Amino acid sequence: MANVVVVGSQWGDEGKGKIVDWLSEQADVVVRFQGGHNAGHTLVVGGNTYKLSLLPSGVVRPGKLSVIGNGVVLDPQALLDELARLAAQGVVVGPERLRIAENTPLILPLHRELDALRENATVESARIGTTKRGIGPAYEDKVGRRAIRLVDLAEPATLPGKVERLLAHHNLIRRGLGVPEVDATTLVCELNAIAPKVLPFMDRVWDLLDRARREGKKILFEGAQGALLDIDHGTYPFVTSSNTVAGAASSGSGIGPGALDYVLGITKAYTTRVGGGPFPTELTDAVGKTLGEKGREFGVVTGRARRCGWFDAVLVRQTVRTCGIHGIALTKLDVLDGFTELKVCVGYKVDGKQIDYLPAESGAQARAEPIYETMEGWQDSTAGARSWADLPAEAVKYVRRVEELIGCPVAVLSTSPERDDTILVHNPFLA
Ligand code: IMP
Repeated sequence: MANVVVVGSQWGDEGKGKIVDWLSEQADVVVRFQGGHNAGHTLVVGGNTYKLSLLPSGVVRPGKLSVIGNGVVLDPQALLDELARLAAQGVVVGPERLRIAENTPLILPLHRELDALRENATVESARIGTTKRGIGPAYEDKVGRRAIRLVDLAEPATLPGKVERLLAHHNLIRRGLGVPEVDATTLVCELNAIAPKVLPFMDRVWDLLDRARREGKKILFEGAQGALLDIDHGTYPFVTSSNTVAGAASSGSGIGPGALDYVLGITKAYTTRVGGGPFPTELTDAVGKTLGEKGREFGVVTGRARRCGWFDAVLVRQTVRTCGIHGIALTKLDVLDGFTELKVCVGYKVDGKQIDYLPAESGAQARAEPIYETMEGWQDSTAGARSWADLPAEAVKYVRRVEELIGCPVAVLSTSPERDDTILVHNPFLA
């Protein structure tokens, strides 16, 4: 029985929602393993549109178990708000449908404040452009060994000591920034007040997943963001603060890496990025504007306009390797309809030297000039195509060239936001 990991192969927003939803229908368990409520997934199920940030996509389907793994940073208030929004849409998610790992670090209001304070205090050009949800500061506290974790809410006797430790660090920073210190007693009271609302969801997730695996259940690991936003392998420091590569599904949920059978990389037929940082194929001209308008490239979480550019095969080829991607789901091909010619980046020129990988250093990444291959476009529509025969010859050629350049086959081709507008080459769960 195959377990599937889904990751974004670019900078996020590759159209994971539709594909993850289609896969979640086949899965028994859907697991989030990194990130937090910085993600944004739009799901259209049974004519209803759901916008999820923190919850796994399986949550809107009855009969599926949703799991939040320890690799996630959890804002308890954001969790309750998202559950309330879903309930208002008729989807009531109780502890029988959602389990959260005991060892999940919490995002607290002080993390959100610090995220925003830092972003606002940074000069525009150096700004990461975070979602200001407190993600980075919460991961810092996890690695700094001072985080409050979900299980700590179940131990009221020792909670004040843990809060004191956390605040010894934060109040020092807050004094430096000239903002009021956080009062320990107030924070402990707030945590004690929210505890009974979130603790019913708490579980030993590593054990739960191990049992599910042994029972032959199908597990879907749902990545958030994209591999180029990975804290190690992405465009550092313009990245998110978690590991977004596929291997994180193991450490971020407590399942051994041998249980990850198939990695599906969601890949947009062009490239977008939201927030700051290097983007070699970015187009600031009319073509970029057209891609943004046709592709409706606005963030689900922050509403920000996404930067757009040509497909960068160098980046995706690298991601295929760092994530061990077996097949890609190519999305939004229809956005390329109507162009006379299309460009694909096949290498970079950095300081006069030609290279076929993304350099690790941020300055070199910013100086990387794309080397393009030009391909013929197509005038017919690919929107809604459900078989290869429905596609113009040039579109098939484009897809085949992408496969060749990234060294990975297309498993799924998505031709519109509608779930049935999909060409299935290979079902990841049947691998
Ligand atoms: P953070 O995750 O809020 O710390 O933001 C760090 C970087 O990751 C910023 O450039 C964000 O725009 C980007 N980012 C975070 N979440 C997403 C996402 O779901 N899609 C695309 N970009 C994201």
